[in-house]
Amino acid sequence: MKTFDVIVVGGGPGGYIAAIRAAQLGFNTACIDEWKNEKGGPAPGGTCTNVGCIPSKALLQSSENYDQAAHHFVDHGIEVKGLGLDLTKMLARKDTVVKQNNEGILFLFKKNKVTFFHGRGAFVAAAADGYQIKVTGAAEETLVAKHVIVATGSSARALAGTPFDEDKILSNDGALRIGAVPQKLGLIGSGVIGLEMGSVWRRLGSQVTVLEALPTFLGAVDEQIAREAHKAFIRQGMKIELGVKVGEIKSGKKGVSVAWTDAKGQAQMLDADKLIVSIGRVPNTVGLNPDAVGLKLDERGAVVVDDECRTNLPGVWAVGDVVRGPMLAHKAEDEGVAVAERIAGQHGHVNFNTIPWVIYTNPEIAWVGQTEQQLKAAGVKYRAGTFPFMANGRARALGDTTGMVKFLADAATDEILGVHIVGPMASELISEAVVAMEFRASAEDIARICHAHPSLSEATREAALAVDKRSLNF
Ligand code: FAD
Ligand code: NAI
Repeated sequence: MKTFDVIVVGGGPGGYIAAIRAAQLGFNTACIDEWKNEKGGPAPGGTCTNVGCIPSKALLQSSENYDQAAHHFVDHGIEVKGLGLDLTKMLARKDTVVKQNNEGILFLFKKNKVTFFHGRGAFVAAAADGYQIKVTGAAEETLVAKHVIVATGSSARALAGTPFDEDKILSNDGALRIGAVPQKLGLIGSGVIGLEMGSVWRRLGSQVTVLEALPTFLGAVDEQIAREAHKAFIRQGMKIELGVKVGEIKSGKKGVSVAWTDAKGQAQMLDADKLIVSIGRVPNTVGLNPDAVGLKLDERGAVVVDDECRTNLPGVWAVGDVVRGPMLAHKAEDEGVAVAERIAGQHGHVNFNTIPWVIYTNPEIAWVGQTEQQLKAAGVKYRAGTFPFMANGRARALGDTTGMVKFLADAATDEILGVHIVGPMASELISEAVVAMEFRASAEDIARICHAHPSLSEATREAALAVDKRSLNF
């Protein structure tokens, strides 16, 4: 039996960051993670590093480069002859990027003196000296600590009766390692994974059809921004069917067929070489043996926590995808830091109102705060200002003028309530809005700040000016 101050179960962004912060605060900390690389060795970083954020962004970049060379370099007077695609190399590059991140985390554990255990951690009992956790796998050990942070993450949700085989019917895992570009690719769910993975394979040559149950496209996104993005995806050749009901799915040697009913109630059939199912994710608590200590779960299997990530058990905390709230790596990380600080008696803090969202398609979609439809529903009086990238000099120079920046500010106080961007580098531009909202800035504050010229960030300033109907360049 090995005793620690803090045991973190799960080494994804929530868990590994919590472990590092706990160690920085002087706690003797262990982190247990079961993810294996192709050789069976440790691969910390969780979903994000292994089959999520990092590999998807690597492939989004590679496929975007290919798409640019194939279709857009010519606009800059650059002729490309004999353009080829080496998918094996592209996938290998993605794997290298993942490996660098796995190794980086192992290095950080050493640097911060976090003891890493490669294996599955499961509760055994709550004893007087703390919670006992048994590790099984490459490392076999029983650990004990007064503080446990559960950060076991989430897994892809399968359609009832249609398990993932990762050959024809793919989760995010299989979607990131298709060995040959499918001629026809079907996707179920036009959420974040559907759009990002659909974009990767469309750029590489697949005919992509997305079947979405909801009648609205990207319902959580500001409607004006979602409309603009929808237009762009359709223009690029992605077929997006909304308001569908997915029926029987048959998988054979040749491919997959999906029976579905369209929004008008007409029966339809989709034949595809591969099918990606991206209909949300479920929390991972099965292997944790929560019943051994009476850890409370909700009906989805998520660990029940309060606003500060406390579970029903004293000294047991939970963060990231395994608890309520958005399934985002940076939300998991911030909760991990805050919990480590709370264990140390400090005032850990996560502002759920300023967690940014980014969809890394082209155009990128990013937002923070409230949407216009949320403000209307809540009866909040607001003023909106928008500025199109079409009127931004840097966007024109880049040759990427799709989209806009949109500000929503309180009508009485001018406080920024939401910022929504669809367009080039939205993922980077959103940070300014997050900082502004964290400091409870007004739209006028942003409008008065000097922004470099020519830069995409000038569109942010102009949208802030537009709140007061005084854009200078539009
Ligand atoms: P995870 O990353 O899931 O890590 C949990 C870890 O715990 C895993 O390694 C798991 O093996 C391990 N584990 C589980 N049970 C046990 C046990 N009993 N014992 C030991 N180990 C255990 N988010 C973003 O913010 N930006 C993005 O661009 C983004 N892109 C994504 C793309 C895809 C395709 C997917 C699927 C997700 C993406 N996400 C993105 C979401 C992001 O990956 C998750 O929100 C994030 O990984 C959650 O972190 P976590 O630490 O809570 O859980
Ligand atoms: P999602 O929740 O984003 O989207 C799922 C979509 O599937 C929804 O639009 C839903 O209406 C639809 N759907 C559900 N059941 C359906 C059915 N039976 N038939 C047809 N459509 C159906 O979930 P997704 O895309 O699986 O991603 C999971 C999570 O991972 C995201 O919510 C996000 O938190 C995270 N993620 C974040 C990324 C980022 O930050 N860039 C990238 C990828 C994932």
